[in-house]
Amino acid sequence: MTLTTTAAPGVRIRDLTVVYRTPHGELPAVRGVDLTLAPGTITGVVGESGSGKSTLALSLLNAVQPPGRIASGSVEIDGIGDVVRLGGERLRQTRGRRIGYVFQAAQNSLNPLKTIGKQLLDLGRSHGVEDLRGLVRDAKELLARMGMDGARVLDSYQHELSGGMRQRVGIMLALVLNAKVVVLDEPTTALDMITQAMILRIVREIHEERGLTTLIITHDVGAVAEIADDLAVMYGGRVVEHGPVEEVLGSPAHPYTQALIRAIPRLSGDLSLARPLPGRPPTLGTLPVTGCVFRERCDRRMPICETDDPAQVVAGGRTVACHAVVPPHAPAEPAMRKEYA
Ligand SMILES: Nc1ncnc2c1ncn2[C@@H]1O[C@H](COP(=O)(O)OP(=O)(O)OP(=O)(O)O)[C@@H](O)[C@H]1O
Ligand code: SF4
Ligand SMILES: [Mg+2]
Repeated sequence: MTLTTTAAPGVRIRDLTVVYRTPHGELPAVRGVDLTLAPGTITGVVGESGSGKSTLALSLLNAVQPPGRIASGSVEIDGIGDVVRLGGERLRQTRGRRIGYVFQAAQNSLNPLKTIGKQLLDLGRSHGVEDLRGLVRDAKELLARMGMDGARVLDSYQHELSGGMRQRVGIMLALVLNAKVVVLDEPTTALDMITQAMILRIVREIHEERGLTTLIITHDVGAVAEIADDLAVMYGGRVVEHGPVEEVLGSPAHPYTQALIRAIPRLSGDLSLARPLPGRPPTLGTLPVTGCVFRERCDRRMPICETDDPAQVVAGGRTVACHAVVPPHAPAEPAMRKEYA
């Protein structure tokens, strides 16, 4: 499934902690996360609302805004360096040109006073694109691939487009500058299921044609399973499991991943066996300070889970953070993955 080219950059997130200032002090929304995006792969990120997915995505662009801040850790991208240490003009040039992105609710972030075409030209100029005609041509082609009349869309203001059309414009803007790393945060939520599947397939095609490294966040585990190579499962600001998508979904190791899959009939394969996840996801204020973040809802909880936060243990191609999972759990890793582990 994976098509790798030498041009695709690897991304190594190490010990990343991002906090938000709250009335109770600074609390972590992402805590001690290690995550490697192998070059040329699509990594899906799933997890309940509030688990830290968007905060993680913003960190890849060093775009966490106050009251949040990256408290520690690094995001090393081949050919760019540690994004956390970038600032000023270098950071601005990196965003968009080197790292393409769609932020969550991007359909609401277009400028209402300018046509899409004008915004495209502004984007090109701000990144020093000389061939603006070529940029417009590429934009039209991307829009056409996503089932839209490119010329018409570029002549439109955002209010003339539906939510789903605006989301596709967002995806076009993320891809049009030919960035090699692409971060998509819920890029298709405003689309119906069939269009969503079509757009995700096109994202996969473009990813392969251009040799990209892509991170995609979605609530729809089933949809991402069809296009991702790897899957990262987040809970309470931690990546609790990460590995090849077929392995994580086919033989989930972490109790949270297991519960998540049981809750999705399309994946569990049997409607009558589907069981909703008991309890509620934690908020920043209710996250346990010590021990495992999932323990309140875990049926395999042990005394150590109350006191010790389980480390992310690398086992073959899989990473799992759970005291009940003893490595090696996963099969041997492919050579490419080793290089970036
Ligand atoms: N600006 C902010 N100020 C304070 N807390 C925040 C802020 N943004 C996010 N948070 C908190 O950080 C945690 C992680 O939020 P984040 O938006 O990253 O989650 P998410 O997994 O993307 O959720 P969703 O699926 O709803 O998009 C949540 O508890 C959220 O309430
Ligand atoms: S560390 Fe303990 S509480 Fe956490 S998921 Fe594993 S068994 Fe459950
Ligand atoms: Mg989010």
